[in-house]
Amino acid sequence: MKNIRNFCIIAHIDHGKSTLADRLLDYTGTVTEREKQNQLLDNMDLERERGITIKSHAIQMDYVYEGENYILNLIDTPGHVDFSYEVSRSIAACEGALLIVDAAQSIQAQTISNLYLALENDLEIIPVLNKVDLPSANPEEVTDDIVDLLGCNPEDVIHASGKTGFGVDSILKAIIEKIPAPTGNPDAPLKALIFDSVYNSYRGIETYFRVIDGSIKKNQQIKFMATGKQYGADEVGTLKLNQVVKNEIKTGDVGYLITGIKAAKEVKVGDTITDFANPTTDRIEGFEDVKPMVFAGIYPVDTEDYEELRASMEKLQLNDASLVFQPESSAALGFGFRCGFLGMLHMEIIQERLEREFDMTVITTVPNVSYHAFTKKDPDEVIIVNNPSDLPDPSRLDRVEEPFIKASIITKADFVGQVMSLCIEKRGQIVNQTYLTPERVELIFDMPLAEIVFDFYDRLKTVSKGYASFDYHPIGMKQSKLVRVDMLLNGQIVDALSALLHDSNAYSIGKRICEKLKELIPRQQFDIPIQAAIGAKIIARETVKALRKDVTAKCYGGDISRKRKLLEKQKKGKKRMRQVGNVEIPQQAFMAVLKLN
Ligand code: GTP
Repeated sequence: MKNIRNFCIIAHIDHGKSTLADRLLDYTGTVTEREKQNQLLDNMDLERERGITIKSHAIQMDYVYEGENYILNLIDTPGHVDFSYEVSRSIAACEGALLIVDAAQSIQAQTISNLYLALENDLEIIPVLNKVDLPSANPEEVTDDIVDLLGCNPEDVIHASGKTGFGVDSILKAIIEKIPAPTGNPDAPLKALIFDSVYNSYRGIETYFRVIDGSIKKNQQIKFMATGKQYGADEVGTLKLNQVVKNEIKTGDVGYLITGIKAAKEVKVGDTITDFANPTTDRIEGFEDVKPMVFAGIYPVDTEDYEELRASMEKLQLNDASLVFQPESSAALGFGFRCGFLGMLHMEIIQERLEREFDMTVITTVPNVSYHAFTKKDPDEVIIVNNPSDLPDPSRLDRVEEPFIKASIITKADFVGQVMSLCIEKRGQIVNQTYLTPERVELIFDMPLAEIVFDFYDRLKTVSKGYASFDYHPIGMKQSKLVRVDMLLNGQIVDALSALLHDSNAYSIGKRICEKLKELIPRQQFDIPIQAAIGAKIIARETVKALRKDVTAKCYGGDISRKRKLLEKQKKGKKRMRQVGNVEIPQQAFMAVLKLN
């Protein structure tokens, strides 16, 4: 146990975690030349393509330092705010953290929020100034920023480059010398923290854990404390680049477990594993069920594919427990599912995985957050509204509450004005403003979550010319004046286009949605009126003018194959379009409310 070090790498997105992790693996000889590939830990295709870490992963390295053998367990963490619960669990499995700061970008919002998480868990922090090879690097200034943030000495900040490998030896030395060895009682009943799980279609769910007390042995009967369920430990082992089967994983170490569980839902990140016959009395604190933050409908483009979509979603859920869904029907779109996601990025990933891995073509409707509605008849009973069309009729409605967040934005002093106006436009209320340095400011706002879902991030990037970083956490529900704005196409309400908007800007947004839909809806043989309405009252109107000519007209008398080709072409173009009444609506139209100018 005294020669084990468990650590994670925390950083703002793109500050170079994964690249630096690769260098550590090279340096310790954990990866052979043949296995070398960039960003080894990001082994999902989608992760590699998007260049982001979606799920945390762990890997064990052997390292000889001053004649002694050490085991270093590195737990990689995702950087995006949608996945922050996983960051907090991986942090809880460690004694130390490398805090990576980009030498050109300096401290950003997630540098700070992840650092706080690490400090809350009493981790030893090793500051690393990364990317010092960059011509735009500003090592002196950024070192000062880090010293101010941590209250450490400038000499404690390790200068490094994940690109060239510079500084990697100093980092390993610091890991061994500064990060404490795990403590824990080898003779106590088994207590292990689940910090991640991965779906494997052949072997079922692989659970990743850190042993706090006792040990976990092959064939041991164990229990997951959150669910109370009993399993046999069919296989345990450590995580090298490939898994290495072991008979026992002891106190302080990190490993994987296979129990034959098939569904990700049964394995909850943050849960405690213990011995079934002789359980621990104190489970690991801080376990939370992950709650979805954003909801949207997912519908098959072709109504006949509904059952296939259901089967695909069920499979996807086996593998991603944070996806929740239930059947819903829409007058416009027919049968589909209302799905809950951790955030917008998660939603995009699910849509993309459905299309790539399951070959489904789906329409995603306007995303919304989860509201609480109360009726006059029973003003104490919460009605959870995950779909705007479920909002009770205004005549029955007592009040509506929406989720709020605390947002932290770090930007340059020059952009404070623009960032403030944006946040105020988004119904934010400033709570605090701190100058981290004379040029860099942290702004804290309370804001409705819904405003973040709608195009906030892009707008923030624009107003700050890219010099703003952003992080948030939920702070509960607050009452708001919300109204449902419905959209009518050709006189018919398209329920999948409805949105809940704040009373103060419902008119202007309703008008802008009409304008946007006019751009997005293809012209047809007839005029298509587009209207926005609150209840029976029309608040805005646009028209998509009719096409002049029949597209196939010019084929008449011509050869049939040409006509067929043209129709084929049209059919392809129909991908991700839905016929609603006699109007065709492309996918982008459902997102129109998110992309208003
Ligand atoms: P997420 O996993 O998305 O949170 O990002 P990350 O922090 O793991 O960053 P990643 O390692 O993917 O690096 C981000 C970008 O910076 C990539 O384009 C890397 O090639 C580049 N990069 C990383 N380290 C260095 C470095 O030391 N020097 C230079 N010049 N570029 C680097």
